[in-house]
Amino acid sequence: MDLVMVLVLILTCLLLFSYWKQSSKRGKLPPGPTPLPIIGNIHQIDVKNIHQAFTNFSKIYGPVFTLYFGMKPTVVLHGYEAIKEALIGHGEEFSGRGSVPILQMISKDLGIGFSKGDAWKETRHFSLLTLRKLGMGKRSIENQIQEEAQFLVEELKKTNGSPYDPSFILACAPCNVICSIIFQNRFEYKDQVFVNLVEKLNKNSKILSSRWVQLCNMFPVLIDYCPGTHNTYYKNLASIQSFLSAKIKEHEESLDAANPRDFIDYFLIKGRQENHNQQSIYTRENLTATLSDMFLGGTDSLKTTMKFALLLLLKHPHVTAKVQEEIECVVGRQRSPCLQDRKQMPYTDAVIHEVQRFIDIAPNNLPHEVTCDVKFRNFLIPKGTTILTSLSSVLYDSNEFPNPEMFDPGHFLDAKGNFKKSDYFMPFSAGKRVCLGEGLARMELFLFLTTILQNFKLKSLVPPKDINDTPQVNGFSVSPPPLQLCFIPI
Ligand code: HEM
Ligand SMILES: *[C@@H]1O[C@H](CO)[C@@H](O)[C@H](O)[C@H]1NC(C)=O
Ligand SMILES: *[C@@H]1O[C@H](CO)[C@@H](O)[C@H](O)[C@H]1NC(C)=O
Repeated sequence: MDLVMVLVLILTCLLLFSYWKQSSKRGKLPPGPTPLPIIGNIHQIDVKNIHQAFTNFSKIYGPVFTLYFGMKPTVVLHGYEAIKEALIGHGEEFSGRGSVPILQMISKDLGIGFSKGDAWKETRHFSLLTLRKLGMGKRSIENQIQEEAQFLVEELKKTNGSPYDPSFILACAPCNVICSIIFQNRFEYKDQVFVNLVEKLNKNSKILSSRWVQLCNMFPVLIDYCPGTHNTYYKNLASIQSFLSAKIKEHEESLDAANPRDFIDYFLIKGRQENHNQQSIYTRENLTATLSDMFLGGTDSLKTTMKFALLLLLKHPHVTAKVQEEIECVVGRQRSPCLQDRKQMPYTDAVIHEVQRFIDIAPNNLPHEVTCDVKFRNFLIPKGTTILTSLSSVLYDSNEFPNPEMFDPGHFLDAKGNFKKSDYFMPFSAGKRVCLGEGLARMELFLFLTTILQNFKLKSLVPPKDINDTPQVNGFSVSPPPLQLCFIPI
């Protein structure tokens, strides 16, 4: 009895203290709902419908508001104007990466996606430059994607038009593209080493978006004290990294500085040039981390987008028919689609943009962080504050895209049927942290999808109108409903 009393007392004091600490710091932050001690505003946020919840808050508090996930204040930016002003207008200040404790424990801020400061800038700059170099030349990235698209078609032919869930091979193809760029070889889709890699990437993406991990991120003490899926995450990542280390070692042994073959070679060469420099970022550890960021960023995102694209094409057969007409007319049957074709295929281009808009794959982006105290619209956001940008609020803006809830390629077409660009198209985010693989991803989406549609008629197992196309939001990311279809060779 006494013990219980003491505990209750201590707890109450803790609550009051934390509450006081929170409110004393709130003065300069943007407005928001009053947080409870310890849990903050979590009880007021419907995680199943975060977009609606944020929209509701923005109606009350305006486009810039503060929410507490646990005890940590997070500033939410809602709508195109606020997001543009922050990510582009104040690009430098908003270019920090919000901490994701579960990732930081293992990646120790190496690599690109979760690193900060000058090391992030240099790694990112180097990676973009190298991707650009690799994009040109005889075996350009475009050629490699075209080649991979043919393997994808071969694999789909093996299904003989019977019902099939393409999820796994839709992850294999983009994963192979990264393999080609990084170390100049692709794998058979049945290769056990490769299957292992794809499965581990797959599982880690699932884990990252799970509720449990979101909870760990809000309350980092859980990471140390509760065993959970994040342990599996670490194990998978360690296995991916040891696979990469072996590849790096092979490259070190066969390196010819005059003839760089791939991303690893470029990185190693740069490392040798800089080896007098104590602070060089071109270390083996950084290379492994950078490569695993590219795998993690470039596999699941494309699988989800392509799977969802197929689902939407099944649900809207008239859209599919028009795309296939365009392919027939511009590309024909005799050769593979190439990037040059895109300019003459405004409808197909619009469909791919609309898929990305509609599925809204990263509703609240990856978390950002301000790199210094920032004065933003009369508020003062202290250095280190987490920033969430609601990409949904931009992609579903009803002025820019009338009837945003409808899948309609017309959102990206003008009255004459020309492709219509929109500044609101932000599935890759914007500003200094914008997706490193945007160019690559857009090539892949165009080449993979047109090559599939050049070769197959898509047949649904249920009437198109019964197909469920509602994105399933889990935690902070999005996945398509289950999908089975028949690929009938044309
Ligand atoms: C449909 C495909 C893709 C989508 C929708 C997508 C989306 C995104 C988004 C929303 C971000 C966060 C941007 C921010 O923090 O503001 C991001 C970051 C990133 N993405 Fe992608 N991505 C895709 C494909 C790829 C590919 C193919 C790669 C491979 C190179 C890649 C590599 C990365 C990396 C390394 C980052 C971290 C960039 C940084 O923090 O500086 N992504 N992506
Ligand atoms: C948003 O507000 C509407 C109307 O006030 C309410 O019915 C709805 O439940 C709210 N949605 C969320 C997710 O908070
Ligand atoms: C790369 O490695 C160096 C030394 O180990 C480290 O100081 C630096 O921050 C790293 N850079 C990145 C981007 O991870």
